[in-house]
Amino acid sequence: MPLVTGDVILRHAKKNGYAVCAFNVENMEMVQAVIEAAEEKKSPVIIQTSANTVKYASMTMFYAMVRAAVENSPVPVALHLDHGDSRNLALKAIRAGYTSVMIDASKQPFEDNIRHTAEVVEICKPIGVSVESELGTVGGKPGDIEYGADGYTKVEEAIEFVERTGVTSLAVAIGTVHGVYKGEPNLDLELLQTLNSKVNVPLVLHGASGLSEQDIRHCVEFGISKINYATELRIAFSDAVKEYVTSHDNIIDPKLFTKHARETVKQVVMEKMHLCGSSDQVKQTTWWNSQ
Ligand code: G3H
Ligand code: ZN
Repeated sequence: MPLVTGDVILRHAKKNGYAVCAFNVENMEMVQAVIEAAEEKKSPVIIQTSANTVKYASMTMFYAMVRAAVENSPVPVALHLDHGDSRNLALKAIRAGYTSVMIDASKQPFEDNIRHTAEVVEICKPIGVSVESELGTVGGKPGDIEYGADGYTKVEEAIEFVERTGVTSLAVAIGTVHGVYKGEPNLDLELLQTLNSKVNVPLVLHGASGLSEQDIRHCVEFGISKINYATELRIAFSDAVKEYVTSHDNIIDPKLFTKHARETVKQVVMEKMHLCGSSDQVKQTTWWNSQ
């Protein structure tokens, strides 16, 4: 089926009390792994590529791979630009066929974040492309400053931000970080609950790799509708390649180790779908057409 918008998928998740996983993909095998897992689990899914990944292969290339993978698929899939850092990149994504974009101006002052986000919403809204933005500081990427609790999303700002920008989903900072956790994650679930009760768009959790199953369950319970996984998939893919290559001599066919890596990533993706509650949400065949 054709790609659907992120908004359609997220609104269904919010209404039905589960979270949709958004998986960062880096190559064709990861695209295939995510779609195969979604079909097997009967789960809606979001495939996303970061601003860095689309420097490695273009958005046109990723769109073509995803489009081909979903062609005969019965599950709703959205293609999302993750951590887009400019209006231009968002425009490129839209032209390439992405159905959802993130504009991440969260490192900028509040008013500038609003201005950049509203600019992207203005372009996307009339053509039905969803827009995610971030408020607060998730951090953990190279060059990010450690803000601690100072960087957590502020409730009053979140209400104002959503009203003034018209975003369709909001990434919140409640104590998660990108990449591998150095210490114990300390999530502010009370803050999440309050944000969920005051902000009327689906909330997004970044930096989910490395969180315990209990943390994920709590985040879903207290109002997260989209959960982003990147690092755990990269590790699964890379470890599988290393394992295969070191245990098989004289490999000259890359398909052998990428096939093994694809299967490994698929298993991780299926576990996450089960954990986030999105498995079996594709029971009514057309909810994504009728919203
Ligand atoms: O935007 C992508 C995510 O927030 C992924 O975070 O690498 O910690 O899984 P992660
Ligand atoms: Zn992120």
